[in-house]
Amino acid sequence: MRVIQVPNAQEMNRWAAAHIIQLVQTQPPSVLGFATGSTPEGIYRELVADHRQNGTSYKEVVTFNLDEYVGLKRDHPNSYHTYMQTRLFDHLDCVSHRTHIPAGDATDLAAECHRYEQQISRYGGIDLQLLGIGRNGHIGFNEPGTSFDSRTHVVKLTESTRNANAHFFQRKEEIPTHAITMGIASILSSRQILLLAAGHTKAEAIARLIEGPVDADFPASALKQHSDVTVLADESACQHL
Ligand code: GLP
Repeated sequence: MRVIQVPNAQEMNRWAAAHIIQLVQTQPPSVLGFATGSTPEGIYRELVADHRQNGTSYKEVVTFNLDEYVGLKRDHPNSYHTYMQTRLFDHLDCVSHRTHIPAGDATDLAAECHRYEQQISRYGGIDLQLLGIGRNGHIGFNEPGTSFDSRTHVVKLTESTRNANAHFFQRKEEIPTHAITMGIASILSSRQILLLAAGHTKAEAIARLIEGPVDADFPASALKQHSDVTVLADESACQHL
């Protein structure tokens, strides 16, 4: 696991965006794995700015998002579909049938999980997967205790994860209780992984990730079993290293 420490979140955004742009330009058609949450928002802003200024094209790019809330319609303001549309896809020249996000409003969720895995395989797997990290070490929505062999599945969200995401919702009761997420094995199947962390609230998780053992109670530690993982973190997130 390679650790790259940058001074602040802005530098993290620039570094990650440059890395993605280089892949898109040099390795078409790239299959990108995207994440949601607060952490990647600045990276998506950088990609949009670059597309406007330099014309980097995403017409050939295929994308897969890590996760989606169960029970929200795709056009719900807090769905990850809406998150990705408004922050990224609406502003790039992506082709809509090449952007994939699990359907959290599917009537048969197990079938949807299976379908999602098949789609990833059909495109030959993910070249670069972006990841944030939860304070409890979750990646995607894989909470502590999730099997490292897991594929895309439905999870019950912990209270701590629901609280951490509360700022995206008007009222606590609106935060969904379940989500569909790519599993840990699905994430580890990506050829390259870039985990991002900014701010002091991630410092304990980053220290445990870098210095701690591989442990199912800390899902991100599964990344130690992958041969091409970069942890890109700012100084605040690295303060306990
Ligand atoms: C959410 C998302 C994760 C994300 C994590 C951290 O629960 N499902 O994919 O990495 O929490 O979020 P943030 O970047 O807002 O701290």
